[in-house]
Amino acid sequence: MVAETTLKGKVALVTGASGGLGAHFAQVLAEAGAEVVLAARRLDMVQAGAAQIIDAGGLAHARALDVAKVEQIGPLFDEVAASIGPVSVLINNAGVGGEGRALELTPEAWDQAFNVNVRGVFFCAQAAARQMIAADLAASGGGRIVNIASIAAHTVLPGLSAYNASKAAVGMMTKALAREWARHHIAVNALCPGYVETDINSAWFATENGQKQVRGFPRRRLMEAADLDAALLMLAGPAAAAITGTLVTVDDGQSLP
Ligand SMILES: NC(=O)c1ccc[n+]([C@@H]2O[C@H](COP(=O)([O-])OP(=O)(O)OC[C@H]3O[C@@H](n4cnc5c(N)ncnc54)[C@H](OP(=O)(O)O)[C@@H]3O)[C@@H](O)[C@H]2O)c1
Repeated sequence: MVAETTLKGKVALVTGASGGLGAHFAQVLAEAGAEVVLAARRLDMVQAGAAQIIDAGGLAHARALDVAKVEQIGPLFDEVAASIGPVSVLINNAGVGGEGRALELTPEAWDQAFNVNVRGVFFCAQAAARQMIAADLAASGGGRIVNIASIAAHTVLPGLSAYNASKAAVGMMTKALAREWARHHIAVNALCPGYVETDINSAWFATENGQKQVRGFPRRRLMEAADLDAALLMLAGPAAAAITGTLVTVDDGQSLP
């Protein structure tokens, strides 16, 4: 548990916050003082996550959002700005695995990976940046956009070509947006986690081959979501005032050859 108040007064929106890393990130940001908006398609799950944060003394709201439906994104950000306040921290976390070996991968699976992992990330960042610029956040420390990429942005995860390509796209998108929005005092960075067991990969790690992969990691283990907390808070908070366009890998050494 992180007990800080570095994000007090900030509105932080986390996409894909109905479970896994997104639900954890929302908790961590709330513990750091942010008023958190948990967004995902499963409204009941984000409502449960928000209720947990409120029970622990934090500030949280739940919203339904499908990031692959671009027509939902602008209205959601507008509604949040009107009812809660302008978003000053966006955690662009919603993502899908894009499974399928290259020879069998269908156009539908490719599109799903890119619609959520790339298109969704871009248009959420665009909506957030428009709001941050309109709110003129420079005097209060600027805006923060943290794109949750993966070690797949720079290291081949075998059998996941669409996922690898989508996360590499997020990496370069992060740099391009950082360059474009630097003058508006918006820091855009990517967090590249190694493997943490969540719904996205639990079926794989239940297999013998999945366990073999874990035994091949330098520390022969998966990471915990909490291992990402320090980097998340750095990129979402005041410490990132001069950090922008950077990919921060936190992977317990998993991507080392
Ligand atoms: N776990 C890892 O080892 C790992 C490592 C590196 C990077 N990552 C990245 O971390 C992020 C979170 O993954 P996770 O491990 O927490 O996986 P997860 O447990 O499967 O969670 C994925 C989240 O994304 C949401 N989501 C999926 N499609 C969506 C859509 N169209 N619109 C809105 N939300 C959507 C899901 O919510 P709904 O289904 O309710 O919409 C869910 O909350 C992903 O970007 C993933 O690529 C994970």
